[in-house]
Amino acid sequence: MKLLNLDHVAIAVWNLDAAIAGYRDRYGVEPLWREVVEAQGVEEAMLPVGGSFVQLLQPLTPDSPVGRFLERRGEGLHHVAFAVVDIEAALDHLRAEGARLIDEVPRIGGRGARIAFVHPADLAGTLVELVELPDG
Ligand code: CO
Repeated sequence: MKLLNLDHVAIAVWNLDAAIAGYRDRYGVEPLWREVVEAQGVEEAMLPVGGSFVQLLQPLTPDSPVGRFLERRGEGLHHVAFAVVDIEAALDHLRAEGARLIDEVPRIGGRGARIAFVHPADLAGTLVELVELPDG
């Protein structure tokens, strides 16, 4: 297992436009892109900070995972995402370690990346996303 870098920190928000405007005004960062990821029930914006991103997540519906998170916990840190070279190998390693996986097999996330989540109850109360970016 080798993590390449901290790909992004994801923050759940009620209103993506308002959150983007806040980041622009407070911190001077602009989204590089935004997209609807139907499979995850979110619209997301990616704000570059150094070699990583802040990912702002707005739920598409109240009964989506991020919608339920907001209902329970309010806005705030949702997950951290680490880039890996080989997500299958990373999942094999985590499985061998007895980690509590949410995704047994990778699915497709934003940017066409292959992603998989590890349950927050597995380690330190943090939802972890592994990201294997498409080539280039
Ligand atoms: Co993410």
